[in-house]
Amino acid sequence: MNTFQADIEEIRRRALEKIDDGAVTAFYKADRDKVIDVLNEVLATETVCTLRYRGHYFMAKGIHSSGVESEFLQHAREEQDHADRVAQRITELGGTQNLNPEGLATRSHAQYGNGVRLEDMIKEDLIAERIAIATYSEIVRWLGADDPTTRRMMEELLAKEEEHADDMAKLLSRVSK
Ligand SMILES: [Fe+2]
Ligand SMILES: [Fe+2]
Repeated sequence: MNTFQADIEEIRRRALEKIDDGAVTAFYKADRDKVIDVLNEVLATETVCTLRYRGHYFMAKGIHSSGVESEFLQHAREEQDHADRVAQRITELGGTQNLNPEGLATRSHAQYGNGVRLEDMIKEDLIAERIAIATYSEIVRWLGADDPTTRRMMEELLAKEEEHADDMAKLLSRVSK
């Protein structure tokens, strides 16, 4: 038997042995509990960002602000999608997603904000995006090669947050003229 075949058999044996662990195999190198904790903070961040953008969408609709509200709504939907992906990954890792509203703001990296002027709302969004970019970059570095699936997801979220920050920066220069 060649070594490749032997490896496959060993992999299969280990996969069957720990079938209860779902997607997590002996080849998972990260600290699973820690990854789940970190992902629950990301989930809180994405949820707070969804709520903030949704709030801004409804407030901007009241102000005369053609085009701005649709941007807020689009971002709200994308943050919701991020939250769903993170919750899904937590489940795959055998964890429980924490969507308890109690403590949500404390678990989140970014804040909800209280701006009512359009310019202030956009500034809050920009700050929140920049915080997400900073913390997600750290998480990507921390995961490294230990959990490539979670890292890849975080890289995709990071790329989207960079796009969001760019959108908000452009919007800010438009409305503050
Ligand atoms: Fe996001
Ligand atoms: Fe974002």
